[in-house]
Amino acid sequence: MQTLVLSNDKVANDIYCLKLQKPYGFDYKPGQFLMIKVNNLNEPLLRRPFSIAKAVSSIDIYYKVVGLGTKILSALKNGEYIDITGPFGNNFEIKYKRLALVGGGIGVAPLIGLKNFLDEQKIESECFFGFNTAKDCFVDFGSIATIDGSSGIKGTVVDMLAHLDNSYHVYACGPNAMLSALCKLADEKGFSVDVSLESNMACGFGVCLGCSVNTIKGYKQVCKDGPIFNYTEIVW
Ligand SMILES: Cc1cc2nc3c(=O)[nH]c(=O)nc-3n(C[C@H](O)[C@H](O)[C@H](O)COP(=O)(O)OP(=O)(O)OC[C@H]3O[C@@H](n4cnc5c(N)ncnc54)[C@H](O)[C@@H]3O)c2cc1C
Ligand code: FES
Repeated sequence: MQTLVLSNDKVANDIYCLKLQKPYGFDYKPGQFLMIKVNNLNEPLLRRPFSIAKAVSSIDIYYKVVGLGTKILSALKNGEYIDITGPFGNNFEIKYKRLALVGGGIGVAPLIGLKNFLDEQKIESECFFGFNTAKDCFVDFGSIATIDGSSGIKGTVVDMLAHLDNSYHVYACGPNAMLSALCKLADEKGFSVDVSLESNMACGFGVCLGCSVNTIKGYKQVCKDGPIFNYTEIVW
């Protein structure tokens, strides 16, 4: 579906916020993602997956420039059109526990929509976000940790979670090293975790197996079975 670009602004180091006109009737659940064709050319051929951070008055995507597709996206101007499909994937299921949202780097993006949803439903939650430096931070809420100490506490996001116990459920998205450290802490403290995985994707609809992830029930596809999995399912 061709969708109008409303704005595409740099909001942090290499990170942009793309706002798209919300198509009539568009609906999504927090955790779901879009597949975006970044131009009309054959290069890059494949659509790229991006979490929907919000879809209130516009569809908001936060993305980090890491390669060709995201570089092309960063040059989009308001008034141009891009082709989107979706939303795809499963969503964060709301648990009747104390809720904590834990994100690292660009992995914070899907948690913005979840926080918005929880606030709308008047469900309390705690947010913990980690970045390398203050210049990488693109959120204005939650407790912040930076590796160099330039904003919030000095350290990793997992360093802020010592108080979590088995009364908590955590929703997490971020680099694998962060997710592994979080899941190790979950084993020690007894809290449960749902993780949103951001594997490389190709087809986006379960055919190419390019996004396979090893689980205790065999290989699953992030695009079709995820992107959200309970951490105990994943073979880390
Ligand atoms: C369900 C899902 C949701 C996502 N949501 C977001 C989001 O909200 N914001 C965002 O910025 N990114 C998100 N991503 C990652 C994003 O899709 C990739 O960063 C993007 O496809 C890279 O495209 P590119 O053409 O710029 O890079 P490429 O040229 O394809 O790759 C450049 C480099 O980035 C690496 N790379 C590519 N894809 C990924 C990936 N998924 N994870 C880690 N490294 C990768 C490649 O290995 C390569 O080293 C998401 C991925 C998934 C699966
Ligand atoms: S991206 Fe092709 S199977 Fe998931």
